[in-house]
Amino acid sequence: MNPGVRKYWAKYRWSNVYAMIRNMKRYPEINLEPFPGKLAVITGATSGIGYCTACKYASMGAHILMVNRHPEKSESVRKEIAEKFNVPVEYVIADLALLPDIQRVGRHLRSLEKPIDVLIHNAGVHLESRKENPVGLEVNFAVHYLCPLIINKMLLPKFQRDRTGRILLVNSEAYRFAAWGLDIEDLQWKRRRYTGIKAYGAGKLAQLLLMHILSRELTPYNVTINAMHPGMVRTESGKDNGKLYQWYKKNFINKLSASPEISAEALYYLGTSPDQSQTTDVFFHLTTAEEMAPPALDSEAAEALSEKIGDFLKMEGIVL
Ligand SMILES: NC(=O)c1ccc[n+]([C@@H]2O[C@H](COP(=O)([O-])OP(=O)(O)OC[C@H]3O[C@@H](n4cnc5c(N)ncnc54)[C@H](OP(=O)(O)O)[C@@H]3O)[C@@H](O)[C@H]2O)c1
Repeated sequence: MNPGVRKYWAKYRWSNVYAMIRNMKRYPEINLEPFPGKLAVITGATSGIGYCTACKYASMGAHILMVNRHPEKSESVRKEIAEKFNVPVEYVIADLALLPDIQRVGRHLRSLEKPIDVLIHNAGVHLESRKENPVGLEVNFAVHYLCPLIINKMLLPKFQRDRTGRILLVNSEAYRFAAWGLDIEDLQWKRRRYTGIKAYGAGKLAQLLLMHILSRELTPYNVTINAMHPGMVRTESGKDNGKLYQWYKKNFINKLSASPEISAEALYYLGTSPDQSQTTDVFFHLTTAEEMAPPALDSEAAEALSEKIGDFLKMEGIVL
C-alpha cells in the first residue's frame, strides 16, 4: 500500500471537496484601484493566463516585465501591450526548464533598482509524455518545482532590502491528483510509470509544500506568497501533446472552459487589493481562500522536499 494512503486517508473531508465544487461557480473578487508605475513581473506571458494578466496589469498602469521563452512572441506581445496601454513593457528571454536560464533570471530580477511589487510565477506545462531538457532534467520538475523556488530564494536579499512584494503561484486544483503525496525518491519520474496528470498534479503539490517554507522566510521582509487555481480556462495549455489530446481538448475541455480573463482579474485582485496585503501561505480558488487537501498541509513532507531539492541543487553546483 502507498504510505500516503495510510497517512492521509483519515484526514480527507468531503466538505472540502464540496467547497471546491461550489467555488468553481464563483466569480473572482475585483479590484478597481489602479496600480500606476508599480512593477509586475510575470513568467510565461506569451499566451493564455500570463498574457491576459500582463494586459490586465498594464491596463491599470503597471510597468510590466515578462519572463518568456520565445523572442518573436515576446516582442510582438511587448509591442501590442505597450502601444495599447501606454506603459513600459519589457521582457527577459529564458527557458525556465534550464537551470542556467533560471539562475540568470534570478540574477536579473535581483539587480533591479525598483522593488518588485508583484511577482507572478505563471509559466507551466502539462505534458502527457515524460520529457527531459537537453541535459536530462525532467521538464515538469524543472518548471514547477525548481524554477519558482530558485527565483524566490535568489530574490531574498532584494526583498530584505525593499521590504515589499507579493508573490503569486499560478497553481491548480490538479494538485489533488497527487492524492497520496509525493514520491520524494523519484521526483523526476524515472522509476515509475509517468502519467501526465499525476506528474502535473505532483508538480503543483510540490509548489504548495514549498510555499509553506518560503512564506516563513519571506514574512520578516513584509513579502507574502500565495497560490491560486486560475479556473478552468481556454489557453494553449497542452499544446505540445499528441493529436488525441488535442482532439479531446478541443471537443471537451475547451467547451467547458471559461475565458482566461477571469484568471487575470483574480491575479490582479490577489496582487493588488489592500484586503490581501497581509495574506500569506493561502491557496485560493480564483479569489476564494480554500482549505488545502491533506498532502498539501504536510509540514514533514514540505521539509523533506525542501531538503531533497537542496541536495539536488548542491549536486548541480547551486547553493541557495
Ligand atoms: N488553463 C487552465 O485551465 C489552467 C488550470 C489550472 C492551472 N493552470 C496553470 O496556469 C498557468 C498558465 O498556463 P496556461 O493555461 O495559460 O497555458 P499556456 O497558454 O500554455 O501558457 C503557458 C505559458 O508558460 C510558458 N512556458 C511554458 N514552459 C516554459 C518554459 N520552459 N520557459 C518559459 N516559459 C514557459 C509558455 O511559453 P511558450 O509560449 O513559449 O510556450 C506560455 O507563455 C500554468 O502554470 C498552468 O499550469 C491552467
